[in-house]
Amino acid sequence: MVTITPETATDLPAREALLDRAFGKAERRRKTSERLRENRLPAEGLAFTARNRRGRVIGTLRLWDITAGSAGPALLLGPLAVDCAYQKRGIGGRLMRHAIEEARKLGHKAVLLVGDEPYYGRFGFSRSSVEALSLPGPVALERFLGLELAADSLAGAEGMISASGRMIPVNDDTAVRQTA
Ligand SMILES: CC(C)(COP(=O)(O)OP(=O)(O)OC[C@H]1O[C@@H](n2cnc3c(N)ncnc32)[C@H](O)[C@@H]1OP(=O)(O)O)[C@@H](O)C(=O)NCCC(=O)NCCS
Repeated sequence: MVTITPETATDLPAREALLDRAFGKAERRRKTSERLRENRLPAEGLAFTARNRRGRVIGTLRLWDITAGSAGPALLLGPLAVDCAYQKRGIGGRLMRHAIEEARKLGHKAVLLVGDEPYYGRFGFSRSSVEALSLPGPVALERFLGLELAADSLAGAEGMISASGRMIPVNDDTAVRQTA
C-alpha cells in the first residue's frame, strides 16, 4: 500500500537521491524553475511524500509561493518525481490530485508549472491561462502551464513570475536547506 503524507525532515536525504536519479544531480539545479525555489522554503503545508508500505520514500511533490505577475499570489508546482520501480501505478496522479486539493483547501487561487502538457493536461493544466506571463529564465514555452483553482484567477494575467516564498534561515545548516 502506498500512502501520501506531509513531507518530514527525515525524508530529505531520500528525496534528494530520488530527484538526482529522476532529473540528474547537476541538471536539475540549472532549471529556470529552480530560480524560483532556491534558498526558499516550500509553501506552508504543501510538501508531500509518497511512501511504500515499509515507509520508504518513493515519490515527492512540492508547491512554492510565487507572484504570478498581475495575477498576484499563486503557487509553482514541482518537482514531481516517482521512483522508477513504482511508476505507472497512479502514484504521480495521486500526488498531483492530493497536492491540488490541499492547495485549494488552503485558499490558493492558481498553480503554475513547467512540465509536459501530455502529462499535466490530465489534471487541468493548460498553456492558454499563462500565455502572457513570463518566467525569469529560458524555458520551452509549450511546457509553461497553469491551472486556475478559483474561477478567472489567471484571466488577463501578464508580467513576470517572481519568488515570494519564505527564505531559508541563513544559519540553518540542517537538511531543510535541501529544497530543490
Ligand atoms: C512523471 C512521473 C512523475 C509520473 O509518475 P507515475 O507515478 O508513473 O504517474 P501515473 O502512474 O499517475 O501516470 C502514468 C502515466 O503517465 C504517463 N506519463 C509519464 N510521464 C509522461 C510524460 N512526460 N508525458 C506524457 N505522459 C507521461 C505514463 O506513460 C503513464 O501513462 P499510462 O497511464 O497511459 O500508462 C514519473 O514518470 C517520473 O517521476 N518521471 C521522472 C521525473 C519527471 O519527468 N517529472 C515530471 C516533470 S516535473
